[in-house]
Amino acid sequence: MFQLTNKIAVITGGGSGIGKAISLLFARQGATVHILELNVEASKEAVKQITYDGGRAFAHVCDVTNQREVLTTFNKIKHIDILVNNAGIAHVGKVENTSTEDFDRILNVNVKGVYNCLYAAVPLMKAKGQGVILNMSSIAALVGITDRFAYSMSKGAAQAMTLSVARDYLHDHIRCNSISPARVHTPFVDGFIAKNYPDRQEEMVEKLSASQPIGRMGTPEEVATLALFLCSDEAGFITGCDYPIDGGFIKLNN
Ligand SMILES: NC(=O)c1ccc[n+]([C@@H]2O[C@H](COP(=O)([O-])OP(=O)(O)OC[C@H]3O[C@@H](n4cnc5c(N)ncnc54)[C@H](O)[C@@H]3O)[C@@H](O)[C@H]2O)c1
Repeated sequence: MFQLTNKIAVITGGGSGIGKAISLLFARQGATVHILELNVEASKEAVKQITYDGGRAFAHVCDVTNQREVLTTFNKIKHIDILVNNAGIAHVGKVENTSTEDFDRILNVNVKGVYNCLYAAVPLMKAKGQGVILNMSSIAALVGITDRFAYSMSKGAAQAMTLSVARDYLHDHIRCNSISPARVHTPFVDGFIAKNYPDRQEEMVEKLSASQPIGRMGTPEEVATLALFLCSDEAGFITGCDYPIDGGFIKLNN
């Protein structure tokens, strides 16, 4: 079950954290993986790991905010079966301390980046007569999280785009879903803690772990396993849905 043999998968931000875990797992299940990354070294390292494990992967330097770069990269890859819109960045702040620059930065990567990849991938999937798309959202799109104004906005947009694409391309056999993780322990989280709480890093890791009802943060591999299911043929009846993976954060936090 859950084999991706002969599938071609594009994973944005596949050089780190959740995207890297998805890239490694998809390659292990037989997919040819194309990693689109800003961070050249990280993407090359992920490709090296996949190749060492006997898989097939390619690194593409690509800024998802740049439509020209995205179109060139997708048209080079061409026969795409799976797109995982995973690349994303964070911002901490309420509306009153979110500057126009902060807002645009989040909008550009987390919203326009997803749009750019959808815009490039959908025609290729239509030509192939099928496709699967997975957008990385967040629990921040589903519940009110303190100090996440711009980030929550962007992850809500990811869910709205998911529904729109799922609806518009039903008859082209393109499925589109999203995943909403709560806190997952990745460089994204470590970077966020180091930047915002430089003197309280250990305490913050413990605090974030305790804020998940299950008592720990998720792992990138756990998110990758859900991504694998949703992108596999076994999930062929699932489209237009969001899947929280949250250690009980949404429903058990009382
Ligand atoms: N870690 C969490 O707790 C968590 C929770 C919910 C949702 N998410 C979402 O999951 C996704 C991955 O998060 P992560 O924790 O693995 O992050 P990460 O920072 O470890 O990895 C993100 C990757 O995206 C790449 N990237 C950033 N901007 C890019 C751009 N413009 N073009 C191409 N690549 C770019 C980075 O270079 C990096 O390698 C994000 O969309 C994030 O919002 C994360």
